[in-house]
Amino acid sequence: MYALGIETSCDETSCAVVRNREVLTNFTVSSLRYHRKYGGIVPEIATRNHLKFIDKVFLLAIRKAKVDLKDIKVIGVTYKPGLLGSLLVGVNFAKALSLALDKPFLGINHLHAHLFSPFLNNQIPFPLPFVGLVASGGHTEIFLVKDFSQIKLLGSTTDDACGEVFDKVARAFGLGYPGGVYIDKVYSPDFRESFSFRCGRKGFNFSFSGVKTAVIYKKNELEKKQKLDRETKIKILSSFQESVVKTIVEGIEEAATKLGIRNIVCGGGVVANRRLRELLRNLEKKGFKIFLPSLAYTTDNAAMVAGIAFYLYNRKRETSNFKLEAEAN
Ligand code: KG4
Ligand code: ZN
Repeated sequence: MYALGIETSCDETSCAVVRNREVLTNFTVSSLRYHRKYGGIVPEIATRNHLKFIDKVFLLAIRKAKVDLKDIKVIGVTYKPGLLGSLLVGVNFAKALSLALDKPFLGINHLHAHLFSPFLNNQIPFPLPFVGLVASGGHTEIFLVKDFSQIKLLGSTTDDACGEVFDKVARAFGLGYPGGVYIDKVYSPDFRESFSFRCGRKGFNFSFSGVKTAVIYKKNELEKKQKLDRETKIKILSSFQESVVKTIVEGIEEAATKLGIRNIVCGGGVVANRRLRELLRNLEKKGFKIFLPSLAYTTDNAAMVAGIAFYLYNRKRETSNFKLEAEAN
């Protein structure tokens, strides 16, 4: 038995085939390069590209997996949250496939799929219950996960998501998009305390828009005196990154401690960040167990959607009906 996954919530058009947690294929086309000059995702461009590529990506995923369509038991599709136009392409494609192939489909919450990503291509027993962290371009959220069908939101960002501030700060410094990748690259541990920037956190809720403003103010203030040299820029960006990743790790540690849960599972694009991974791994010295996705599955992909769909279908024969609608952010 196999599951097919479809992911189109943002700018990646992705289809995957999994058998249990083994990823047979995972093909993704990203429209990222068309958004670069705007410094962020333009929904209209994303939607048009999903429409252009969804059938091709689907055919590739099926053919390269060498599976017979009749052996697909369930079609998992991201139906929330995300950009409405983008989600609509995936959801309607999944409904059409479901009708044509006479197979059930299951709407998947994109954030829940991110929490499944560390368990792809391995046999690690699911560390249930666990505290989940999703850190991405649209989300900074902490969850209590008793099972993949019982996920409770504990806290989130009250303004910008962590990835969003990476993108906005990078943009102010004339770096490329997505900004987190560039800031991660220039980060230097020697300079992480050069400036003192602070992010907001109250319990399990975060606030990142203040740090973004503070960083941009600092840049403008220094630039009034003289053109910034490379070292000063690296000092600002390293201190910025340090404050964001430290705040995230403090939040997840506090949540796990308060709940008395030792297992912490992370997912989302920002979890590709080297310093964030290092700080999360350091929690192991305090007795926590940390589960991180491999880098290939940090950013948006259909394998995680197929994986969680397989799990839920196998467990409870959960399926969706045709009334399922895409739900935007
Ligand atoms: O999960 P994702 O692919 O899409 C969303 O669902 O949002 O996450 C994309 C976000 C972007 O904001 C990007 O800047 C950030 O993940 N990101 C990183 C790194 N790689 C990607 N942030 C920090 N460090 C990285 N290495
Ligand atoms: Zn995502």
